[in-house]
Parts: sequence; structure tokens; C-alpha cells
Amino acid sequence: MKFLPFFFLLAACAGGAKDDRITTILALTGDTTAGETVYSTNCTGCHGADATGGSGPSLVAAFAEGEDEEMLDYIINGDGDMPAFGESLADQDIADVWAYVGSL
Ligand code: HEC
Repeated sequence: MKFLPFFFLLAACAGGAKDDRITTILALTGDTTAGETVYSTNCTGCHGADATGGSGPSLVAAFAEGEDEEMLDYIINGDGDMPAFGESLADQDIADVWAYVGSL
């Protein structure tokens, strides 16, 4: 019982850290040129060279929905056949790749 409060604290911090990362990324200015490189290296295979879709959905359409927080959550944490890039990509890489998708 003594350890229970500590446990809740950890859980609360973990949730906050995830949201903080999305907030941090949204505050960055994405570089579309750098983002094109991140995209062609990591995303083209599933989302298509022009991001209009392949085995994965169209990211041009996803960007147009304007739900950036939800989309960044996909990129960081993955979902189903969408791999998580939170470990392999830095905050700036994610800001860049999402800016690139928005420029298409
Ligand atoms: C191995 C294939 C694969 C790769 C590589 C991949 N994705 Fe995905 N992605 C998917 C699939 C499949 C989905 C749909 C997942 C689902 O429905 O839960 C998806 C979903 C998404 C979504 C949510 C789209 C929506 O409409 O909800 C975003 C955003 C996204 N991917 C971005 C990226 C970015 C950016 C990259 C490169 C850094 C990338 N993906 C690399 C397969 C991939």
C-alpha cells in the first residue's frame, strides 16, 4: 500500500511527458527541405512518394483534417501497421516531416 501513491505519480508523469513532446514539436518551425529527406527515408515505402497513400493512408488527406496533435501521436507512438518513430526521429525531424507533408 505504501508504494501506491508513487505508482500514480509515475503514471501521471508518463502521460504528461507524451503530451509535452507533442506540444514541443508543434511549437517548432518545420523545415520542408529537411522534412523531404526524413519523409523519403522513412515514410515513402508505405505512404507513397507523394504522400497520397500506399499500403498506409494518404497523409495529404490526413494533414488536411488539421488534427495535428493526433497525427503527431501516430508518428511518435505508431498504431497497428504504422511503426512508432518516437525513438528514431528527433523532435525537429518530426516537425520537419509534418511540415513537408503539409507543403504537398
Ligand atoms: C510500414 C509501413 C509504414 C511506414 C514506414 C509509415 N507508416 Fe504511417 N501509417 C501506416 C499505416 C498502415 C497507417 C494506418 C494505421 C492505422 O489505421 O491505425 C499509418 C498511419 C499514419 C498516420 C495517421 C493517418 C490517419 O489518417 O489517421 C500518420 C500521420 C502517419 N502514418 C505518418 C507517417 C510518417 C510521417 C511516416 C514516416 C516517418 C510513416 N507514417 C511511416 C504505415 C506506415
